Amino acid sequence: MFERHAGNDRAVLVQLAFGKAPIADDLEELQSLAATAGAATAEVVTGRRDRPDAALFAGRGKVQEISDACVATQSELVIFNHPLSGVQERNLERELSCRVIDRRTLILDIFAQRARSAEGKLAVELAQLEHLATRLVRGWSHLERQRGGIGLRGPGEKQLEIDRRLISGKIRALRERLDRVERQRHTQRRRRERSQTRAIAIVGYTNAGKSTLFNRLTAAGTYAADQLFATLDTTVRKLYVADAQPLVVSDTVGFVRALPHELVEAFKATLLEAVEADLLLHVVDGASDQREAQIEAVNAVLAEIGAADIPQLIVVNKCDLLGLGTDAGRVEHDESGQAQRVFVSARTGAGIAELRNALQHRFPAAPRGYDQPLDTDAANDPALAENIAHSSG
Ligand code: GTP
Repeated sequence: MFERHAGNDRAVLVQLAFGKAPIADDLEELQSLAATAGAATAEVVTGRRDRPDAALFAGRGKVQEISDACVATQSELVIFNHPLSGVQERNLERELSCRVIDRRTLILDIFAQRARSAEGKLAVELAQLEHLATRLVRGWSHLERQRGGIGLRGPGEKQLEIDRRLISGKIRALRERLDRVERQRHTQRRRRERSQTRAIAIVGYTNAGKSTLFNRLTAAGTYAADQLFATLDTTVRKLYVADAQPLVVSDTVGFVRALPHELVEAFKATLLEAVEADLLLHVVDGASDQREAQIEAVNAVLAEIGAADIPQLIVVNKCDLLGLGTDAGRVEHDESGQAQRVFVSARTGAGIAELRNALQHRFPAAPRGYDQPLDTDAANDPALAENIAHSSG
């Protein structure tokens, strides 16, 4: 639909400050977001002006500086750490002859790569299309480029209308699919409740080591997707802990700071596992000097999606780094004796036994006669699941 520059994996980052406002201190985060999306930072361009330029966001001189940086570093991607309008994006792409994206598009791109559940993937695609719909501006179509801007109005506008119609049709179809998946999820949740399975969701700041922990914990396990969550989700697995209730654990997308508000909805859908969990394993990168800020950022997002009251067990990860090695296996408890923080290295496996132990204490197996095993057949057969539910309850 669009002829835009594809961009390579080297990026020039742009951060401006306006008026007397201090320069935001989230450049480092932007770099790590870019890296998460697969782009290496080749150069950072900063600057200050009174207010954003309506056409180009930055001033002419700054745009030239960005252009020089792109040429010097052979970068084909420019990432603005600001929201850009569709018109600004288009104008900048024309001026710079490379792909230009803003922070929102970058975050959406990461979500698109990382969304783990079917629902999450649909929600992210929907958010991407909705975002794209706001940036359909004249002059971005392939046709019009060929016409070199002459007769801008006629053909350009037609192409624009076609694009708009295609997008809104696709948005409608996606919404319907999302509705269906949501209904399916509710049914599956009820089944899980009947089988008395406890759900644990792994949450945490991007790059904290969630997936590594997920794999470490479930290495010997089978995909629960074969059973309770068939077709819905490939990232929920059974977690075997001796003498504990049946457990399933799910991996979720990473969190970031200052999540643009309009992305919260999309994010929510990628995090439904977290909203519906009995326990959150909140993974923290113990080696990061930003770890307390990251814990706060994650908690802020959890509050936004309505998961603030779900009990958390903090898992301080990467204990093999920075001399934290001596800490692996340490467990901190609250006054009631409940484990609050467990120190592990998901990479080496140190401290994982202590983490499993903490889970066993939190979810001890029900007294004799009540430990209902996960039942594959029941998962595939609603009538059988009903029977089990009645006979056990
Ligand atoms: P997102 O999907 O981006 O949110 O990341 P994630 O939280 O799932 O992190 P992931 O498991 O992908 O790990 C991020 C990086 O940290 C990878 O390079 C891992 O190899 C590394 N990592 C994870 N756990 C450990 C650990 O215990 N020690 C060390 N040294 N590195 C680790």
